[in-house]
Order: sequence, then structure tokens, then C-alpha cells
Amino acid sequence: MRPLIAGNWKMNTLRADGSALVVGLIEQRAGEDPGCDILLCPPFVSLGLIGDIIAESPILLGAQDCHKEESGAYTGGISAPMLSDAGCGFVIVGHSERRAQYNETDFLVSEKARAAHENALVSIVCVGETLVDRDADNTLSVVEEQLLGSVPKGANAKNTVIAYEPVWAIGTGKTPKNIQIREVHDHLRMLLENNFADGNEFRILYGGSMNSANAGEILSIKNVNGGLVGGASLTVKDFWGICTSL
Ligand code: 13P
Repeated sequence: MRPLIAGNWKMNTLRADGSALVVGLIEQRAGEDPGCDILLCPPFVSLGLIGDIIAESPILLGAQDCHKEESGAYTGGISAPMLSDAGCGFVIVGHSERRAQYNETDFLVSEKARAAHENALVSIVCVGETLVDRDADNTLSVVEEQLLGSVPKGANAKNTVIAYEPVWAIGTGKTPKNIQIREVHDHLRMLLENNFADGNEFRILYGGSMNSANAGEILSIKNVNGGLVGGASLTVKDFWGICTSL
């Protein structure tokens, strides 16, 4: 399957930074198809601007979160229909930063993913263990509970992407050993196959300190079907380096 490389800009970039970044990526992409789909997830307020710039390019647009409800009295909320309307095709849900900082539960994440699917958005559902979980040898049971609790009924390989992001690898420069990544991705694949008719076709991304130096190796691991990139998605050189490392 064609890999997906997604840039999660998190709470970074003003309009000028974001547009310079995306213009640079479009230039690179115009000269070469790196053999993967490329997705950018800028902050909400830049979606219109970035969406306009990438409109004629193959680069895809996504958001970093959505509300579970479609509209109403939810001050500050951004709904899935709004994201669709703004030109998004994807939305990240259940990122570990949102789980930790906003107390998001598996059930809430599944509601957000459901809202995404009902509004023609592909959800990128994130799972991942903390260092405490890993040290206690609970990694597989933790990601299993998160996956089964966070992916809603009606999910399929067309409307859902899974992202495995070990919390301790995010922004730390640390990555699991290849064999550890493989073990988790194999487990997630088995769960998807057991629970969804097209479970063998879901893309499972790896995220956590991915960079242009380690991406080639990580992306060649079985059942790793792309990357969810934070810090290294903020410069053209680093992000393009990951896209072309397959
Ligand atoms: P880093 O690539 O900065 O470790 O972040 C990963 C991540 O959280 C992407 O969603």
C-alpha cells in the first residue's frame, strides 16, 4: 500500500512560516513523486491559508483535532463539518498530548473519529504507551485497549488510519528499537484484522522522533505504512528528507 507521511505541526507556525514551508514542499513535490502520500496538519487558523496554497498540488490537508459534536454551544470548539468545509480530508484524533493535557478518553476519541467519518474525513487515531507502561511490560495491552476503545464501529481502511506513537518517543530524540516497533505494529495489525473486515488494509503509521536519518529504516519495518512527524515536519529539508527516504 502507498505509505502516508503526515506532518503534525502542533502549535507551531505563524502564517508566514507555514506558507514558506508549504511553498518549499510544493516545489520539491513538483519535481519528484517520492512514492508516498503527503499530508500536512497545520493549526486550525492556518487551514484556509495552507489549503489555498496546496490546492493545485497533490499535498493533502488535515487538522489536529475536532469536536465530537457537529455544532452548538461549545465555545472554542471546531467541528468535523467545519473541517470538511475548510478543505480538510483528514483529522488527527486522540493524540497523546490531547489525551494527557485535555483528559481525552478512548470513548471521546471514538466519538471524534465517528464525527470525522460522518463528515467525509479520514480519522488518524493515535495510540501509544508511556514509559511507565513500557517499563512494566504493558505496551501491547495498553495499545490494544486504546485501539479497541478509540476506533469506532463503522471504521474501515478508507476512513481510518492508525498512528502508533510511543509517548516517551515524542519530541525526545529517542525511538524504540526496530524490533519493538515491529512487535507493536504486528499486534495492531492482528487486532485490526480480527475486528474489521478490511483490517489488513488499514495504514498504520509510526510517530515519535522520526527524522530524515532514521525514517528509511523505520519505514521499511513490516506493517509500518508511513509516519506521523512532529518536529521534523517544520522544515522543508527534514520533512522532504523523510518523504524521500522510503
Ligand atoms: P516528534 O516527531 O516531534 O517526536 O512528534 C511526534 C508526534 O507527536 C507527531 O504527532
